[in-house]
Amino acid sequence: MCGIIGYIGPKQVTTLLVEGLRRLEYRGYDSAGVAVITNPSSPSSTRELQIVRCRGKLSELEGQLAGAAPQGNVGIGHTRWATHGRPSDENAHPHRFESVAVVHNGIIENYLSLKRSLSERGHSFSSETDTEIIAHLIWEELQRVAPGPDRLLTATQRALKHLEGAYAVVVLCTDTPDEVVCAKSASPLVLGLGDGENLIASDVPALLPHTRRVIFLEEGDLAQLTREKVRVIGLDGVERKRPERVITWSLLAAEKAGYKHFMLKEIFEQPRAVTDTLRGRLSHAPADALLDGYDIDPSKVKRLFVLACGTSFHASLVGKYLIEALARIPVEVDLASEFRYRDPIVSSGDLVVAVSQSGETADTLAAIREAQKKGAQIFSIANVVDSSIPRTSQHSLYTHAGPEIGVASTKAFTTQLVALALLALHLGRRSGRLSEEAAQAFVHDLTSLPAKLTQVLQTAEQLQQLARTYGHCRDMLYLGRGPQFPIALEGALKLKEISYIHAEGYAAGEMKHGPIALIDEGLPVLVLAPHDGGYEKVLSNLSEVKARGGHVIAITTEGDHSLRTLADHVIEVPAVHPLLAPIITVVPLQLFAYYVADFKGTDVDQPRNLAKSVTVE
Ligand code: AGP
Repeated sequence: MCGIIGYIGPKQVTTLLVEGLRRLEYRGYDSAGVAVITNPSSPSSTRELQIVRCRGKLSELEGQLAGAAPQGNVGIGHTRWATHGRPSDENAHPHRFESVAVVHNGIIENYLSLKRSLSERGHSFSSETDTEIIAHLIWEELQRVAPGPDRLLTATQRALKHLEGAYAVVVLCTDTPDEVVCAKSASPLVLGLGDGENLIASDVPALLPHTRRVIFLEEGDLAQLTREKVRVIGLDGVERKRPERVITWSLLAAEKAGYKHFMLKEIFEQPRAVTDTLRGRLSHAPADALLDGYDIDPSKVKRLFVLACGTSFHASLVGKYLIEALARIPVEVDLASEFRYRDPIVSSGDLVVAVSQSGETADTLAAIREAQKKGAQIFSIANVVDSSIPRTSQHSLYTHAGPEIGVASTKAFTTQLVALALLALHLGRRSGRLSEEAAQAFVHDLTSLPAKLTQVLQTAEQLQQLARTYGHCRDMLYLGRGPQFPIALEGALKLKEISYIHAEGYAAGEMKHGPIALIDEGLPVLVLAPHDGGYEKVLSNLSEVKARGGHVIAITTEGDHSLRTLADHVIEVPAVHPLLAPIITVVPLQLFAYYVADFKGTDVDQPRNLAKSVTVE
């Protein structure tokens, strides 16, 4: 989720680029940089490509620019959210090779093979990033394109044909100083149209100080920006007409892409976040999961622990069902805050999986250090590259959810479930417990998740209505069985932490052991009842609630008509492998919690007493 800004026009560009990046800071980043063509009107031999970049915040970059800002009026800027390669000066964008500079947002899946073939042609590299190879590829193509008005556009078009994966890329070249070229595939880019100037950015807020006239690029678009005009073509070179739009949002609304809160935006980002987390990590023939170069031999794993806090703990509980079902390896899930003080029975040969969005949670960090002292190997699943927990681990698998701004975790949770599903698949195939046929079916359903998430998000209006109906209640109960039990816990936590309404998540089978005493007239009970192994039993729990006057909101598989006579409200979700269903069934609960909190007027993105990352005990 990097921030990109590009400009060509009459203004001094360096300050403009930094200001544009500042308007994209909310996207989260760990390094920043700018590239400027100085003396663009002079002969190419004296034109320079000046690049200033560094790890850290924009204030660090401004410190480096102070008194030595490149002078020019064509440039590009970038704030980097690390995916490949740790945050560092060398990995910061822009990247260059010879006369070409690029900035990039996305993940190039085949960058290692491209890097190898470039090395065989004599290229060498100064960073760990996938982005750097794009500058080398464009430069190579430039050498094959005759001088002319479209030289950089043509070279970029040819170079991009080698890439597989997601990219929003913006390119500068001192050989062609009167144009900026960009291209979009699966990562956003928007053009800003001015008078004698034109801009490009990864998001609208960076454009608003200059223009409200924009063009949103679409899949496979390339665009050429000069001072006078912008031109859009496809990878096939054919001109494409894109509508010009006028932005009416305020700056703050634009940072949320028009959503009222970051949390709602992040709930709706889940299809993209899951797509990015799966990217490059699934093998279809044979069916398998690739863990970014990490191979686990289950025969060498004595015991497997999963440690986490809060929502990440709920994801870990689902992970237990996934790993035990697919790999038949016993899994012990622990609250990190309990594990660290229990003098845990851990030793060498044990594998500890730490799950954390921030990668900075003090209890989780302390717990893995305790496990490490006792000889365990640590594998972390985190959303922030190079944060403390991954840095303490032998290996990490990053969820590519992008920065999660809302304190209540949503897209981080579903991408953690995806990462745990990949781990379970990986272990299942290597333990020999998961057949090719079963693995194929699992991979098929994993691949279907983004589309099914998009479908389940269409229940938003229905959940908003339910939030108005039940938003005044003081207590709510959430019930689920099997892998849906952790989702009952997660749904209850979401409601508690942003609406301040008391809610409890319970294993549906536990109702008769106490909680059923809570049921009385009008108590809302949200029941997770997808068509899985526990469905029939959940129906009887649901009937027990109804018989005592409770109001039942059932989340079930689409096409289920029997529940309509049993429950007061039915939310239908698409069918998917029962072990992946939690990724789908959690979404209505996220939406319900959001709309109840919005109905109550609480501070949804920054709930009282809570921090996004609990770095203290
Ligand atoms: C979840 O909505 C909360 N923000 C909180 O429970 C969070 O999951 C917990 O503090 C763990 O944080 P982490 O994933 O960054 O380790």
